[in-house]
Amino acid sequence: MPRKILVTSALPYANGAIHLGHLVEYIQTDIWVRFQKMQPKDKVADCWYVCADDTHGTPIMLRAEQDGVTPEALIERAHGEHARDFAGFHVAFDNFHTTHSPETQEYCNLIHARLKENGLIEKRGIEQYYDPVKQLFLPDRFIKGECPKCGAKDQYGDNCESCGAAYTPNELKNPYSAISGARPELRHSDHYFFKLSGDRCQRFLRRWTRLPGRLQPEAANKMQEWLGAEGENKLTDWDISRDAPYFGFEIPDAPGKYFYVWVDAPIGYMGSFKNLCGKRGIDFDEYFRSDTQTEMYHFIGKDILYFHALFWPAMLEHAGLRTPSGIFAHGFLTVDGVKMSKSRGTFITAESYLKTGLDPEWLRYYYAAKLNSSMEDIDLNLEDFVARVNADLVGKYVNIASRCAGFIGKKFGGRLAASEAEWQKPLREASARIAEAYEQREFGRALREIMALADTANVFVNDRKPWELAKRAGQEAELHAACSQAIEAFRLLTLYLKPVLPKVAEAVESFLGIAPLSWDDTAAALPAGHAIDAYSHLMTRIDPRLIATLIEANKESLSPAAEEPAAKNGEKHEEKQEERTAAAPVRAEAALIDIGEFMKVELKVARIVDAGLVEGAEKLLRLSLDIGEEKPRQVFAGIKSAYDPARLIGRLTVMVANLAPRKMRFGVSEGMILAASDATGATPGIFLLAPDAGALPGMRVK
Ligand code: MSP
Ligand code: ZN
Repeated sequence: MPRKILVTSALPYANGAIHLGHLVEYIQTDIWVRFQKMQPKDKVADCWYVCADDTHGTPIMLRAEQDGVTPEALIERAHGEHARDFAGFHVAFDNFHTTHSPETQEYCNLIHARLKENGLIEKRGIEQYYDPVKQLFLPDRFIKGECPKCGAKDQYGDNCESCGAAYTPNELKNPYSAISGARPELRHSDHYFFKLSGDRCQRFLRRWTRLPGRLQPEAANKMQEWLGAEGENKLTDWDISRDAPYFGFEIPDAPGKYFYVWVDAPIGYMGSFKNLCGKRGIDFDEYFRSDTQTEMYHFIGKDILYFHALFWPAMLEHAGLRTPSGIFAHGFLTVDGVKMSKSRGTFITAESYLKTGLDPEWLRYYYAAKLNSSMEDIDLNLEDFVARVNADLVGKYVNIASRCAGFIGKKFGGRLAASEAEWQKPLREASARIAEAYEQREFGRALREIMALADTANVFVNDRKPWELAKRAGQEAELHAACSQAIEAFRLLTLYLKPVLPKVAEAVESFLGIAPLSWDDTAAALPAGHAIDAYSHLMTRIDPRLIATLIEANKESLSPAAEEPAAKNGEKHEEKQEERTAAAPVRAEAALIDIGEFMKVELKVARIVDAGLVEGAEKLLRLSLDIGEEKPRQVFAGIKSAYDPARLIGRLTVMVANLAPRKMRFGVSEGMILAASDATGATPGIFLLAPDAGALPGMRVK
C-alpha cells in the first residue's frame, strides 16, 4: 500500500523571532518532506507537512502587555513574521496555522473530555506562589531568589545557574517576583491533573516507548531513565491547568481555569492538519483514528522530548486516537562551538541572514551536510560554512554545468547529443543508497555520496577538457558528446540535491527544459536532440565579508544577565543548559599580529596527571594538568569524542596557562589545552598537541 504520511515540526513560540537555531529543525523537516514528495505516487501517495505558531501561555500574555498590544495582535504579527522567514528559507509547509484557532480548541476539548471520561483527570488543591502586586500565579521561571544550596542571588525558581542545583520554587530563599519584584505569597488553588503516574499510563508508556521506530536509541534510553525500572514509579501526575489571568483556552465547565499551554501546543498539530483538511478535502479521521494505516512523525528539538514522548502519546492513546509513528529529535545549534549569543552576534535571526544578502540554500546545504539521525548538537562553524559551500556547491556541483553548457548553446544550437554513457553508471546506481540515507535522516551521508558522484563527473570533464576540444577543428562530435554527457550527470546530481536545494533545482529544471524532477527520473537520460536554454548563473560563492556583516548586524551589547531569559524560552520540563566552552571572539579574517602580542600568550608544557568524564557534559573531559605549579590545574576540554580519558593520563601536551579562569556549570576551568582539527570537516577528529621527548612540565613554549 502506498504510504500516507503526516509530518510536523515543533510549533515556534509566538513571542520570539525565528533564528538559525530554529532553522536546524525546519530545514531538516523540510528536506525530509521534499524527499518524500519526490517519491512516485505508488510509493508515497501523500505527505503533508504542517506547523503552527504556539501562541498561549503566561510569557506571551506578559509580552503583549509590555508591548502595549493585545495578545491577539501580538500573535498575529508574529505569525506574519514567522511565515515570511520560513518562506525565505524555502520551508514549504502545507499549512502554517496557529494554536489560537477553533480547530485546536475543538480537539483540546475533545481530548480533555475523553480523558475525563476515562477517569484520567483529577482535581487537586495545590499551594503556588502568587504575585500580590501583579495579581497572578507565577510560573517557576518568573520567581527568583537565592539558591537554597549555595546562596547565589537572582536564581530562577527551578535551578541554580551557579552551582547547578535543582529545586522547587518553594525552596528558594528570599523569593521575589521577576515581574513586579514583590515578595510572592503562597496561595491555594485547585488544579487539574492528568494521571500520568497511574498504572494505565505507566503500562502504556513502557510498551509504547519500546515499539520499533518510535524513538531514537538515545531517546529510548532517556525514557527508561524517566520511567524508572519495571515496578518503580518515577512519573508524576501532570498539572494541566492554569488560573486566570491566562492567555489560552478555558477548560469547559471550569470557569477561570485554562489549559496549560503545553496541553494545547501538540494538539495544535491536529488543529493545523484539520484546517488543511478543510481546505484540501483530506480525510482527517483516516489519519487520526486509532487503527489508522497512515504514518505521523514529529520533528522536535531534544529539549522538548519529554512532552512529545510521554505526555503526548499518553494523551492520544487514552483519548482513543492514533499515536505518533516516530519522534525524531535533533540536537542544538552552536555557532563556532558555543551557544548562540547576542553579545557575540551569533544569535542570528532568520531575517537578518536574508537581509544581509546570504543565500538561504547555502545554509540549507551546510545544515544538511552536518545533520544525521542522532540527537547530537550541530555546530555552525562560520569559516567551515564558507569553505564547504564554496568548495562543494560552487567548486564541484555548479562547476560541471558552467564548464559545459556554454558550448551546447554556442556550437550546437542548444541541442544535446546522446547523453547517456557508461561512466555515469555509478551516478544512476547510487539512487537507492541516497534515498535510503534521506529516508533515515542521514543527510550528511547522502551529501557525501552525492559529492563523491560530483567528483566522478568532474574527473570526466577534466579528462575530456571541452575547452580544448572546442579549439580543435574536427573534434565537434567529441565536444558535443562530452558536454551532453556532463549535462546529463548534472541533471542526476540536481535530482539528488533537490530536497536540499529546491530553488536551484527549479532553476536547473527550467534551464534544462524539463518537468519537475522526481525520484524515479534517474532511469531515462536526456534524449539526443533535446533543447536546453542558455546557461545562467545558478549560485555564487560566499563572500566571507558577508559573514562579518551578518555578525555585526546581530551584535547586541547586553549584560550577560540580560541574555539568559531570551535564550531560554518558556517553561520546559527539562531545560537543557548548553555546555559552555571558552568564548572565542568571532573574527572575519585572520589579521596579522606582532611578536609582542603573541608573547602575551603563556604556553606551557603540561603533564596530564588525571583525566575523567564530566557528568552531564556531552563533549567535555575534566583534566588535571601539572605545569610545575604547587597544585595541578583543572581544565575542561572538549575532546571527549576523540580521547579515552584513561589513555590520556601521563601524556604531555601544551596548555595556555594565562587564560582567565572560566566558571562553568561543572566547575572552574583554569586554562586551555591545544589541539588541531580540520575546519572543513573533511578529516574528522581532534588531535592533541604533544612536545618531543625530553620536555618537562612547566617549560615555556614559544
Ligand atoms: N513552542 C514549543 C514547541 C511546542 S511543539 C508542540 C517550543 N518552541 S521554540 O520556539 O522554543 O522552539 C521550536 C523548536 O525549535 C523546538 O523543537 C526547539 O527544540 C527548536 N530549537 C530552538 N532553538 C534551537 C537551537 N538553538 N538549536 C536547535 N533547535 C532549536 O519549544
Ligand atoms: Zn546554587
